[in-house]
Amino acid sequence: TTPATIPGYTYGQADTARSPLTLEELRQLEQAVLWTPEDEQYLRQAGDVLADQIEAILDLWYGFVAAHPHLLRYFTDAQGQPIAEYLAAVRRRFGQWILDTCRRPRDQDWLNYQYEIGLRHHRTKKNQTDHVTNSATPVVPLRYLVAFIAPITITLRDFLARKGHSPAEVDKMYHAWFKAVTLQVALWCQPYVKDGDY
Ligand code: HEM
Repeated sequence: TTPATIPGYTYGQADTARSPLTLEELRQLEQAVLWTPEDEQYLRQAGDVLADQIEAILDLWYGFVAAHPHLLRYFTDAQGQPIAEYLAAVRRRFGQWILDTCRRPRDQDWLNYQYEIGLRHHRTKKNQTDHVTNSATPVVPLRYLVAFIAPITITLRDFLARKGHSPAEVDKMYHAWFKAVTLQVALWCQPYVKDGDY
């Protein structure tokens, strides 16, 4: 799969919304998650380690969501049935997101797509990309976005350890991943927050 063939994946495209944050504010947020040049290198290495494990990671994460009705809810229709096409469409972009997190430079296109992902969880844009007309839910609650930093980080450690790197190297990849996810979720919160409070 190349990114260009993933439906709804609009990274770098002109119709993607522009982030209200500046690149300078992004650099300051990076400092707030303890970002260092070394993280850059280890995040890239994490991308190499994870690249052929994407489907296994998605199986785990989707299994986790599917096992909890209060989480699966955001992928169900008004009758409470999971919407298979919606789950599948988001899954493809989620797989690409893992690679993007590790490999994309954090430039204006990157910042804009973070804003877009925030909007897609928020009521501004949830359900629109995949043309879901019968969704049970207009919004993914912010508290779950933040809480998911834990599973999205902790479950990744085993995958990072699977390619024979030393425990010290695995730790460095793990910390770089943790920072990168925290940074993104902090950006995704923007549409949820009252004017002036973000
Ligand atoms: C969409 C990641 C939290 C439900 C997505 C996408 C990604 C993603 C990469 C696709 C973005 C795109 O369109 O390119 C994450 C991460 C999370 C998180 C990293 C937290 C660390 C959650 C939670 C839920 C959720 C807690 C609810 C259980 C959804 C739904 C969509 C989506 C329903 C599709 C939204 C739409 O209609 O466009 N997520 N997500 N996400 N996520 Fe999340």
